Amino acid sequence: MAEAVFCKPSTIFTSKPSPFCTFLLILVLCILGFYTPLYRSTTPSPSKSQNALRFRQIFLSSANNNTLASYLRALTQHPHLAGTKASLDTTHYVLSHFKDLGLETRTAQYRALLSYPTHSSLSAHFINGTVLRLPLTEFTQATPDVVPPYHAYSPSGSAYAKVVFVNHGTDEDYRALGALGVNASGCVVIARKGDFPRGIVVQKAEAHGAVAMLLYAEGDKFKKGFERGTVMRGVGDPLSPGWAGVDGGESLDMEETEVLRRFPKIPSMPLSAEAAGAILGSLGGAPFPPDWRIGAGHVGPGPTILNFSYQGEERVVRIHNVFAVLRGLEEPDRYVLLGNHRDAWTYGAVDPNSGTAALLDIARRYARMMGLGWQPRRTIILCSWDAEEFGMIGSTEWVEENLQNLGSKAVAYLNVDCAVQGPDFFVRATPQLDNLLREVTKKVKDPDLGGATVYERWGATNMGTTIQRLSAVDSDFAPFLQHAGVPSVDIYYGRDFPVYHTAFDSYDWMTKYGDPKFQRHVAVAGIWGIVALHLADDSVLPFNYLSYAHQLQEYTDVLRNLLDGSVSIHPLVASIEELTFAAKAAQAEAKILREQESSDDSVVLQKRALNDRLMLAERGFLDSEGLEGRQWFKHLIYGPPSDYESKLVFFPGVADAISGSARMNRKERQAAIQHEIWRAARAIQRAARAIKGELT
Ligand SMILES: *[C@@H]1O[C@H](CO)[C@@H](O)[C@H](O)[C@H]1NC(C)=O
Ligand SMILES: *[C@@H]1O[C@H](CO)[C@@H](O)[C@H](O)[C@H]1NC(C)=O
Ligand SMILES: *[C@@H]1O[C@H](CO)[C@@H](O)[C@H](O)[C@H]1NC(C)=O
Ligand SMILES: *[C@@H]1O[C@H](CO)[C@@H](O)[C@H](O)[C@H]1NC(C)=O
Repeated sequence: MAEAVFCKPSTIFTSKPSPFCTFLLILVLCILGFYTPLYRSTTPSPSKSQNALRFRQIFLSSANNNTLASYLRALTQHPHLAGTKASLDTTHYVLSHFKDLGLETRTAQYRALLSYPTHSSLSAHFINGTVLRLPLTEFTQATPDVVPPYHAYSPSGSAYAKVVFVNHGTDEDYRALGALGVNASGCVVIARKGDFPRGIVVQKAEAHGAVAMLLYAEGDKFKKGFERGTVMRGVGDPLSPGWAGVDGGESLDMEETEVLRRFPKIPSMPLSAEAAGAILGSLGGAPFPPDWRIGAGHVGPGPTILNFSYQGEERVVRIHNVFAVLRGLEEPDRYVLLGNHRDAWTYGAVDPNSGTAALLDIARRYARMMGLGWQPRRTIILCSWDAEEFGMIGSTEWVEENLQNLGSKAVAYLNVDCAVQGPDFFVRATPQLDNLLREVTKKVKDPDLGGATVYERWGATNMGTTIQRLSAVDSDFAPFLQHAGVPSVDIYYGRDFPVYHTAFDSYDWMTKYGDPKFQRHVAVAGIWGIVALHLADDSVLPFNYLSYAHQLQEYTDVLRNLLDGSVSIHPLVASIEELTFAAKAAQAEAKILREQESSDDSVVLQKRALNDRLMLAERGFLDSEGLEGRQWFKHLIYGPPSDYESKLVFFPGVADAISGSARMNRKERQAAIQHEIWRAARAIQRAARAIKGELT
């Protein structure tokens, strides 16, 4: 063993061991302790994989749309905004569901700075002298338990100024306005929701001198809906950036620059499409530029003046994550995590409790399998997060608190947020999971097409079985993938649902439009639960890094065209070759090991060693220094570019260097981009070497 090289075995047991030898002894004991569970499994069980198959079939056949509907109904009875009493009730509901099933449970509490509205008003002063007071609620009568429309973390403030319409509020839109001689400075701007995060749109308005911003989402049937949402930038509790906001732990002061820089400086609010229409219809000035594709109208400024006021308050509140832990029999120290948030802006039938219902149904079915003698090989953890809507706070604090253990033990994180929004299957994932996802969808029945599988219908859509990636920061996979480097998945049915973040996201909407028979819920729970069962029970992890290498190759081709020879992309090409080579060898090794059902120590250890290499490869993409200026984001393949207008949805460091160097001279620009290409290439090389598992 390696330690003998440094330290004679006899010296370990002398009465005065050197600190280094003591360290080694502890290390050896730890390693032995670490592997003990493996030795428990030496009883021969030749049909383990058949057994796992049998339990996957039991899982699928115990699907029940009625239980899913009943969970959703219970969860959505009242609005349950994070930090409120109603939200605490859902915490107890989920916890007692897990407990009643006999599952081991756990909770993790944090304190976090959340934000609530206290008062708001908006009136339009038209040129003809009429003053129109605009309703700032979806309801005609008081509904005290639904939070009024607001943007969490908007500063309090008021404005009395002319209106300018800025389309989606991107830099390009402001340039188009500039070309028309329109300057938004000193105005209240109105924007329609595009692809950019709310906080970024407000930041741009602020940068262009606007004094307040109103943001509406276009909807056909639901024009009266207001899209609530956070405008905070970054991820996690603003008072504990990068560490967990635990009781007695470090907490920044609200007034510190580091905290304030995450909030906008101008007040903002959501607006309904109906209210936006009433204001926009009264504007003068230049007509809408044709390429905004929004029909006829004028951009302003004015003549209509808006009188807008928003008052809100920030409060430190307690938030609660709830877990059910299904301990692995053979590898309890390897984790497969299934996560969904529980908190909602309003009733949350789609967002997020269609996912919570699926999580609870998976718990029910797993508990039933345990009653029939199943125990997962690896530990499965069902996670119910709090305060996601404010900026992935519950999951982020937990990941920050458990970074070391997740880094060494988390196999994968499987996220489901808005599980059912409408028809059609969608999935985003890190590429080593592509094959597994496609295979699993071949086993699950399509909810809308009798007799077909999810895979068949998915393949028949115009995008084919496309798997999207996870560069966005819009749900709880962000801390797992972008901060901790855990292979991740995000699954959903339907997209762009019209009642997003409005008071109409209710059980009633779900039964009328989203999923009248709850069969889409059944499909999501089926795919989610089976993917997890493979990751938890397959003796060799179903990861294929050739898909990753292939995807990286495509990204490199895009960069090659974009950079047009000005910067060398050779470092990427070489590292991808190395990854391809390592991935092929690992696939061959996996194939041989998969065929060996033996539970001899040597086979078990070989599988474990290969699995560790496959698990840790994703961590290779992390860089300890993270993205420049945004160190929390450690992943160099997937993460948000700081310039949201960047066309690159991968290599965020390279994307930043390309957009951030626009004003540099040619030489500096090339150097900045080249450096980020090298960093990405080294990350790929680290992943390749993790898979190879040998020292240079
Ligand atoms: C817009 O107006 C403000 C204030 O009058 C001025 O400082 C700014 O330079 C103007 N912006 C442009 C692009 O002209
Ligand atoms: C004044 O102008 C607004 C907006 O154009 C319009 O809706 C309203 O009917 C007008 N009122 C009168 C009295 O003309
Ligand atoms: C603007 O609205 C506020 C709050 O409703 C009101 O107190 C104020 O008088 C209004 N300002 C003008 C100029 O109408
Ligand atoms: C469950 O599915 C069956 C068969 O499609 C359907 O008749 C029933 O109404 C569904 N239950 C609910 C709650 O939608």
